[in-house]
Amino acid sequence: MAIREILKMGDPRLLKVAQPVTEFDTPELHALLQDLQDTMAAANGAGLAAPQIGVDLQLVVFGSGRVNPRYPEADIVPFTVLCNPVLTPLGVEEKADWEGCLSVPGLRGKVPRFVHLRYQGLDLKGQPIDRTVSGFHARVVQHECDHLIGQLYPMRMREFSDFGFTDVLFPELGRA
Ligand code: NI
Repeated sequence: MAIREILKMGDPRLLKVAQPVTEFDTPELHALLQDLQDTMAAANGAGLAAPQIGVDLQLVVFGSGRVNPRYPEADIVPFTVLCNPVLTPLGVEEKADWEGCLSVPGLRGKVPRFVHLRYQGLDLKGQPIDRTVSGFHARVVQHECDHLIGQLYPMRMREFSDFGFTDVLFPELGRA
Protein backbone atom coordinates (compact mmCIF):
# COMPACT_ATOMS: atom_id res chain seq x y z
CA MET A 1 0.00 0.00 0.00
CA ALA A 2 1.21 3.42 -0.88
CA ILE A 3 0.11 6.98 -1.23
CA ARG A 4 1.08 7.98 -4.75
CA GLU A 5 1.82 11.39 -6.19
CA ILE A 6 -1.23 12.89 -7.92
CA LEU A 7 -0.48 14.44 -11.29
CA LYS A 8 -1.55 18.04 -11.65
CA MET A 9 -3.20 19.88 -14.52
CA GLY A 10 -0.55 20.70 -17.10
CA ASP A 11 0.84 17.17 -17.09
CA PRO A 12 0.24 15.75 -20.58
CA ARG A 13 -0.56 12.32 -19.11
CA LEU A 14 -3.86 13.78 -17.87
CA LEU A 15 -4.89 14.59 -21.44
CA LYS A 16 -4.67 11.08 -22.90
CA VAL A 17 -7.35 8.52 -23.68
CA ALA A 18 -6.58 5.63 -21.32
CA GLN A 19 -6.18 1.99 -22.35
CA PRO A 20 -8.88 -0.56 -21.48
CA VAL A 21 -8.24 -3.05 -18.70
CA THR A 22 -7.83 -6.48 -20.33
CA GLU A 23 -6.78 -8.70 -17.41
CA PHE A 24 -8.85 -8.78 -14.25
CA ASP A 25 -8.29 -9.94 -10.69
CA THR A 26 -4.50 -9.88 -11.12
CA PRO A 27 -2.09 -9.03 -8.29
CA GLU A 28 -1.03 -5.94 -10.26
CA LEU A 29 -4.62 -4.71 -10.48
CA HIS A 30 -5.22 -5.32 -6.77
CA ALA A 31 -2.04 -3.41 -5.94
CA LEU A 32 -3.16 -0.54 -8.17
CA LEU A 33 -6.54 -0.46 -6.45
CA GLN A 34 -4.89 -0.33 -3.03
CA ASP A 35 -2.71 2.60 -4.13
CA LEU A 36 -5.73 4.44 -5.56
CA GLN A 37 -7.71 3.88 -2.35
CA ASP A 38 -4.82 4.98 -0.13
CA THR A 39 -4.14 8.06 -2.25
CA MET A 40 -7.81 9.03 -2.43
CA ALA A 41 -8.30 8.56 1.31
CA ALA A 42 -5.20 10.61 2.18
CA ALA A 43 -6.51 13.49 0.04
CA ASN A 44 -10.18 13.14 1.13
CA GLY A 45 -11.08 12.72 -2.54
CA ALA A 46 -14.56 11.82 -3.75
CA GLY A 47 -12.94 9.77 -6.49
CA LEU A 48 -9.69 9.07 -8.28
CA ALA A 49 -8.83 7.80 -11.74
CA ALA A 50 -5.78 5.68 -12.57
CA PRO A 51 -4.36 8.29 -15.00
CA GLN A 52 -4.19 10.76 -12.08
CA ILE A 53 -1.41 8.65 -10.57
CA GLY A 54 0.21 8.13 -13.96
CA VAL A 55 -1.30 4.71 -14.74
CA ASP A 56 -2.62 4.48 -18.30
CA LEU A 57 -5.70 2.31 -17.64
CA GLN A 58 -9.46 2.80 -17.75
CA LEU A 59 -9.99 2.35 -14.02
CA VAL A 60 -11.65 4.72 -11.57
CA VAL A 61 -12.58 4.50 -7.91
CA PHE A 62 -15.17 6.72 -6.28
CA GLY A 63 -17.49 6.99 -3.35
CA SER A 64 -17.03 6.04 0.24
CA GLY A 65 -20.43 5.33 1.71
CA ARG A 66 -19.73 8.02 4.31
CA VAL A 67 -19.85 11.80 4.46
CA ASN A 68 -16.83 13.36 2.77
CA PRO A 69 -15.38 16.46 4.50
CA ARG A 70 -14.52 18.01 1.12
CA TYR A 71 -18.16 17.55 0.00
CA PRO A 72 -20.17 17.63 3.23
CA GLU A 73 -23.48 18.23 1.46
CA ALA A 74 -23.11 15.37 -0.97
CA ASP A 75 -25.29 12.30 -1.08
CA ILE A 76 -23.57 9.16 0.08
CA VAL A 77 -22.11 7.27 -2.88
CA PRO A 78 -21.13 3.61 -2.36
CA PHE A 79 -17.45 2.81 -2.78
CA THR A 80 -17.06 1.56 -6.36
CA VAL A 81 -14.26 0.27 -8.55
CA LEU A 82 -15.16 0.70 -12.22
CA CYS A 83 -13.15 -0.49 -15.22
CA ASN A 84 -13.79 0.24 -18.91
CA PRO A 85 -16.86 2.38 -18.24
CA VAL A 86 -19.58 3.21 -20.73
CA LEU A 87 -21.77 6.19 -19.82
CA THR A 88 -25.24 6.78 -21.22
CA PRO A 89 -26.97 10.03 -20.25
CA LEU A 90 -30.68 9.46 -19.57
CA GLY A 91 -32.48 12.48 -20.96
CA VAL A 92 -31.02 15.88 -21.66
CA GLU A 93 -31.45 17.49 -18.24
CA GLU A 94 -28.25 19.12 -17.00
CA LYS A 95 -27.33 20.90 -13.81
CA ALA A 96 -24.29 23.03 -13.03
CA ASP A 97 -22.78 22.50 -9.60
CA TRP A 98 -19.46 22.93 -7.85
CA GLU A 99 -16.66 20.45 -8.46
CA GLY A 100 -13.10 20.15 -7.39
CA CYS A 101 -10.37 17.79 -8.54
CA LEU A 102 -7.28 16.46 -6.83
CA SER A 103 -5.40 17.25 -10.06
CA VAL A 104 -6.58 20.87 -9.88
CA PRO A 105 -5.78 21.60 -6.23
CA GLY A 106 -7.19 24.60 -4.40
CA LEU A 107 -9.84 25.46 -6.97
CA ARG A 108 -13.54 24.87 -7.49
CA GLY A 109 -15.71 25.46 -10.52
CA LYS A 110 -19.34 25.05 -11.48
CA VAL A 111 -19.63 22.32 -14.08
CA PRO A 112 -22.72 21.33 -16.06
CA ARG A 113 -23.38 17.57 -15.93
CA PHE A 114 -26.20 15.28 -16.92
CA VAL A 115 -28.52 14.79 -13.95
CA HIS A 116 -29.55 11.23 -14.82
CA LEU A 117 -27.07 8.64 -15.98
CA ARG A 118 -26.70 4.94 -16.69
CA TYR A 119 -23.19 3.60 -16.30
CA GLN A 120 -21.87 0.21 -17.17
CA GLY A 121 -18.48 -1.38 -16.80
CA LEU A 122 -16.62 -4.10 -14.97
CA ASP A 123 -15.40 -4.45 -11.42
CA LEU A 124 -11.89 -5.57 -10.46
CA LYS A 125 -12.84 -9.22 -11.01
CA GLY A 126 -14.38 -8.53 -14.40
CA GLN A 127 -17.95 -8.80 -13.12
CA PRO A 128 -20.43 -6.45 -14.77
CA ILE A 129 -21.65 -3.26 -13.12
CA ASP A 130 -24.82 -1.65 -14.48
CA ARG A 131 -26.36 1.22 -12.53
CA THR A 132 -28.84 4.01 -13.11
CA VAL A 133 -28.12 7.00 -10.89
CA SER A 134 -28.88 10.70 -10.46
CA GLY A 135 -27.54 13.82 -8.86
CA PHE A 136 -24.19 13.79 -7.05
CA HIS A 137 -23.57 10.11 -7.80
CA ALA A 138 -24.07 10.80 -11.53
CA ARG A 139 -21.82 13.87 -11.27
CA VAL A 140 -18.97 11.95 -9.63
CA VAL A 141 -19.12 9.22 -12.27
CA GLN A 142 -19.05 11.77 -15.10
CA HIS A 143 -16.13 13.63 -13.49
CA GLU A 144 -14.07 10.49 -12.86
CA CYS A 145 -14.76 8.87 -16.22
CA ASP A 146 -13.78 12.13 -17.94
CA HIS A 147 -10.26 11.49 -16.59
CA LEU A 148 -10.18 8.37 -18.80
CA ILE A 149 -10.73 10.44 -21.93
CA GLY A 150 -8.32 13.23 -21.12
CA GLN A 151 -10.91 15.70 -19.84
CA LEU A 152 -10.46 17.80 -16.69
CA TYR A 153 -13.45 19.62 -15.24
CA PRO A 154 -12.33 23.15 -16.30
CA MET A 155 -12.54 21.87 -19.89
CA ARG A 156 -16.25 21.17 -19.29
CA MET A 157 -17.06 24.57 -17.78
CA ARG A 158 -19.10 27.14 -19.67
CA GLU A 159 -19.24 29.97 -17.11
CA PHE A 160 -15.83 31.06 -15.87
CA SER A 161 -17.19 33.58 -13.39
CA ASP A 162 -18.08 30.44 -11.40
CA PHE A 163 -14.44 29.41 -11.00
CA GLY A 164 -12.20 30.30 -8.11
CA PHE A 165 -10.11 29.38 -5.13
CA THR A 166 -11.77 27.07 -2.63
CA ASP A 167 -10.68 29.05 0.42
CA VAL A 168 -12.20 32.23 -1.05
CA LEU A 169 -15.41 30.63 -2.35
CA PHE A 170 -15.98 28.36 0.65
CA PRO A 171 -14.05 29.70 3.65
CA GLU A 172 -15.88 27.19 5.86
CA LEU A 173 -14.11 24.36 4.03
CA GLY A 174 -10.71 25.86 4.79
CA ARG A 175 -8.08 24.68 2.37
CA ALA A 176 -9.83 21.39 1.49
NI1 NI B 1 -10.74 14.80 -10.89
